[in-house]
Amino acid sequence: MLEQRIRHTDLRARVVTAEEAQEWIHDGMTVAVSGFTKSGDAKAVLQALAKRVRQSGEQLKINLYSGASLGETDAILNAQHVVSCRLPYQSDPLLRKSINQGEVQYMDQHLSQTAEFLRSGYLGDVDLAIIEATAITDDGGIIPTTSVGNSPVFVHQAKRVIVEINLNTPIEFEGLHDIYLPAERPNRMPIPITHVADRIGTTYIPCDPEKIVGIVLSTCSDTPSNIVPADRDTQRMADFILDFFHHEVRYGRLPRNLAPLQSGVGSVSNAVLSGLATSSFGNLEIYTEVMQDAVFELFDSGKVAFASASSFTLSKDMTQHVNSSLSRYRDQLVLRPQEISNHPEVVRRLGVIAMNTALELDIYGNVNSTHVSGTYMMNGIGGSGDFARNAGLTIFVTKSTAKDGRISSVVPFVSHVDHTEHDVDVLVTERGIADLRGLTPRERAKTVIENLAHPSYKDELLSYVKRATSSGGHTPHILDEAFAWHTRFKETGDMREAEPIAKAII
Ligand code: COA
Repeated sequence: MLEQRIRHTDLRARVVTAEEAQEWIHDGMTVAVSGFTKSGDAKAVLQALAKRVRQSGEQLKINLYSGASLGETDAILNAQHVVSCRLPYQSDPLLRKSINQGEVQYMDQHLSQTAEFLRSGYLGDVDLAIIEATAITDDGGIIPTTSVGNSPVFVHQAKRVIVEINLNTPIEFEGLHDIYLPAERPNRMPIPITHVADRIGTTYIPCDPEKIVGIVLSTCSDTPSNIVPADRDTQRMADFILDFFHHEVRYGRLPRNLAPLQSGVGSVSNAVLSGLATSSFGNLEIYTEVMQDAVFELFDSGKVAFASASSFTLSKDMTQHVNSSLSRYRDQLVLRPQEISNHPEVVRRLGVIAMNTALELDIYGNVNSTHVSGTYMMNGIGGSGDFARNAGLTIFVTKSTAKDGRISSVVPFVSHVDHTEHDVDVLVTERGIADLRGLTPRERAKTVIENLAHPSYKDELLSYVKRATSSGGHTPHILDEAFAWHTRFKETGDMREAEPIAKAII
């Protein structure tokens, strides 16, 4: 077993327990760990660290960098107040609370950019990288597990590396990954991906064996994803998008197998992909950052030719299914570093169709994906910006209201901008779809309100636009009022006007 998992003979002597390995972590260190959307994250050593802090009561703080969210480890560390600074993405409710209370400093980054920041020296030194692996090759190369994320750049930049070999990961994972590190700027060559299926690197993360100070054998499982099944509204949004695809094919703007698809995490994206399984579309390609359950359902229905991502983020049942029948999929998928899966150059070249979720959107098409009431961090921008700005077709979805109708997700002005009107092509709510391509701001406002807003907010939006437009401007606004909906919600807990707005329409 050990010979198969640790093929570098000398490294076998460096096996330690998680309890021994965590002793190498000291106050003030920057620790960079594998993990992307709860997959392939380093678990054993960090959880042993949390245990030490809980038992000893010592004050220890680290900067924690990862690919994206970790599984339960984010919550376990947060409970012991171990993390001083976190980047680039998280989705744990309690960590979110600590961030919003200012206890944890948080850098919300485009997921393709953390690697560039590290190489450029903007984030300081990485003292220690902890990487979950399937195995270590003869020359010290690290074969990742269910995600690649930022692990290659972490290994490259770190002073020392701990490898957590996950004995539950099938050894057949070897060969699924394609590791490519762009060269230093400014003399970097183009990334040679011209087709979704192109392989351009190695199947392992190159690593100087001398850097590997310890190897921990672990059997911790990834935290399963919990995909909420599509409800009626979610299914309607998915249906609008599928109809739109048919329309675009009819008008010759998309090929019959569509363009490579990117779908953000969440139930709408999952429902769109599930809907494709029974559609007339076939020979599909996926160029995304996270493969959810629906991607494997599409494989099983014979609809997908190839899928490229940075991680599998699967339910418990789908994990078992994929692990036990990996040979069926292995020639049709690849896991890449997140700076490649999300790279603007490649996304632009491939003409990806990007589908992501908004918290709110405004009448001109600006999108807020991250900040509730413009102030409180939800999760982070993740890869949505990497794809939105560079995709061939950029779609955002959201329900037209939140919190039992007390919040309109269609507002005069978003309370925080992640994706500007210039980056957004198509918006979808359960009320309809707004194709903003080729529309001027005044046309956009009309289309957004007519097609997307909930009836209980439509009149007030129409009134706002009418009054704003009467004072002129290219993108008409009444700045005193632009954020009034947000302040009203803050004061009363409801964005709806106490008195109907009909008076103001006249
Ligand atoms: N104002 C305030 N709260 C809002 C809101 C709004 N306009 N719209 C939604 N919410 C709340 C919901 O009520 C819900 O609250 P709850 O957790 O208390 O129930 C919460 O936000 C999540 O909304 P939900 O409708 O369940 O959406 P989701 O789980 O699909 O998540 C995002 C939506 C935007 C938070 C999520 O997609 C995200 O983090 N996106 C950014 C990252 C990204 O897009 N990555 C893409 C590549 S993977």
